[in-house]
Amino acid sequence: MSAADHADERFAPSAEFSAHALIRSRNDLNALCERAAREPEEFWGELARQELHWFEPFQRVLQWEAPFARWFVGGRTNVAYNCIDRHLASWRRNKAAIVWEGENGEQRILTFQELYREVARFANGLKSLGYGKGDRAIIYMPMVPEAAIAMLACARLGIIHSVVFGGFSPEAIKTRVDDLEANLAITADAGVRRGREVPLKRNMDQALRDCPGVRHCVVLHHRGARDAQGAAIGAMQATRDLWWHELVSGQSEQCAAEPLDSEHPLYVLYTSGTTGKPKGVVHTTAGYLLQCHMTMQWVFDLHEEDTYWCTADVGWVTGHSYIVYGPLSMGATTLMYEGAPDFPQPDRFWRVIEKYRVSVFYTSPTAIRSFIKTGDEWPQKHDLSSLRLLGSVGEPINPAAWRWYHKVIGGERCPIVDTWWQTETGSIMIAPVPGAVATKPGSATLPLPGVQADIIDSHGAPVGPGQQGYLVIRHPWPSMFRTLYRDDARYKEVYWSRFPGIYFTGDAARRDADGYFWVLGRVDDVINVSGHRLSTMEAESAMVRHPAVAEAAAVGKPHELKGQALVVFATVKSGRQRSPELSEELRDWIASEIGSFARPDEVRLVEALPKTRSGKIMRRLLRELVVSDKVSGDTTTLEDYSVILKLSSEGKEEEEILSEKKGS
Ligand code: PRX
Repeated sequence: MSAADHADERFAPSAEFSAHALIRSRNDLNALCERAAREPEEFWGELARQELHWFEPFQRVLQWEAPFARWFVGGRTNVAYNCIDRHLASWRRNKAAIVWEGENGEQRILTFQELYREVARFANGLKSLGYGKGDRAIIYMPMVPEAAIAMLACARLGIIHSVVFGGFSPEAIKTRVDDLEANLAITADAGVRRGREVPLKRNMDQALRDCPGVRHCVVLHHRGARDAQGAAIGAMQATRDLWWHELVSGQSEQCAAEPLDSEHPLYVLYTSGTTGKPKGVVHTTAGYLLQCHMTMQWVFDLHEEDTYWCTADVGWVTGHSYIVYGPLSMGATTLMYEGAPDFPQPDRFWRVIEKYRVSVFYTSPTAIRSFIKTGDEWPQKHDLSSLRLLGSVGEPINPAAWRWYHKVIGGERCPIVDTWWQTETGSIMIAPVPGAVATKPGSATLPLPGVQADIIDSHGAPVGPGQQGYLVIRHPWPSMFRTLYRDDARYKEVYWSRFPGIYFTGDAARRDADGYFWVLGRVDDVINVSGHRLSTMEAESAMVRHPAVAEAAAVGKPHELKGQALVVFATVKSGRQRSPELSEELRDWIASEIGSFARPDEVRLVEALPKTRSGKIMRRLLRELVVSDKVSGDTTTLEDYSVILKLSSEGKEEEEILSEKKGS
């Protein structure tokens, strides 16, 4: 069944939920949306004045010279001040800011007061090394409070941070260090996943080998990690490396927050685009924080007493906006868990929810599908009655997974907010406001206040209900990215050239008769593996760096758990033999070049790749091939149709060989 077949299935919020919600009815929401559409600058301006702390007020809400926006022009504020200091003046000073659980069950709770002290000490440590406004830090950390502390300390001083997901390889770190011209690195000795150490420092050492611009690498002593010989993982280099605890020891517990321009860059987060080179998405200070803060209220209906848990990693945008900046700005308690969802048993998440009485839970469809697979008995062992709201992010959620989540986790009591947004948008754009909007499984429902989303055809004309088109945003919004780091031309080209003056998301969507949005997926060469964006070009570039590979073409294939899986076709250089062993080696190769989450499900070694007469690889045919093992449509531009026939049978043979090998 397609998503549209479910368009009539709806779940209205209960009267009880709505009665306690921050936005209680569709009328209230509509009034907010209408006001925001009619007077966007007054709307955002008022919220910015009310909801954020300003060292100096802004003079102008928006300066829009398409496609470049500046929000809250002339104002001075500080993200860390908003996330911490302003809560210290109230009873919240002793409220839990971060609740952390480690994989082996350790626990740490930092109140806002304690978070302030830790951030101040670390910021003072960085200052003592000479870092300050405009410097650039690469943060490569496990899911520990110090990851948030490092981000907030940078934000406090105006150091631009770029968090690199702990699953990325040294090669990926190096690309980011180079592009950002980072001069500071922050890491830990190691992280942990399913009881095994993740050698973060060692990866960092490898990455920094040819990065002389990085003057210091601060290392958190987290695991006390040792290798088989008993040596600390990644030896400390005398002139570059410092232990975190030594850096902060003796530092003052007071550190004034730097009054920063509204448009000072807060962070650069690298995300996959359609070329091999990741894009450095730039987020700035005031507008970004305001919309993260507002969506915590609108979408998560956040109340003072909530315990909120977003299961993302801080290395992705969801972790930035909805583990660190959004919740802390709201003065909320945010939970961080370092470890795998199924360790030591498949009920770990439910155990954590029960233990801390989590009330708002935000996870991904991939995680939900894997829970379905392990069986209802795992959540049923636990008291999940503290939950009142559930969220989903990262990819379209299939209606069956939605219904399971609603029934088995939410006890048919909790609304589900399916949140559509992107690294580039900075905060949630399309999602139900849970006290006001009836949900439909598989639909992110309606744009939030101030978000002018639309669906248009290739000529830019709006499409009618039920018709598929391109998802676009017509008006700038405060948390939008401002550019791609040091690459305005690529920013213009990728996002603003297809429909001039309109932001093109890269997603296809349709709207139903109620105006609900159904996001269908990407229209470009970006695939979504377990909610992680991966560019097929990035995989191909990595593949051809292997000495045995001549050419490569990567495509996505539907996958039961991950949403999509990566399949790479490749030809080998003359003198090299195709073999199942080489295929396996190439899967590992991509994992080591990009990161283990990018390991292809299959590498198919073939005699030749299908090409047009002009020499372009016909990925469309390969995509069809991995789905159906057949190709259809127009193949008149194919250089050699026989290549496709061969591919089709070779793929089969190789699969048989591999499955035999696995079975043996
Ligand atoms: O294709 C959409 C999909 O994820 C893309 C954004 O990926 P990324 O920048 O990595 O950010 C992920 C976390 C916000 C989008 O272009 N996507 C994200 N959320 C949804 C979604 N697709 C459908 N429904 C969603 N709720």
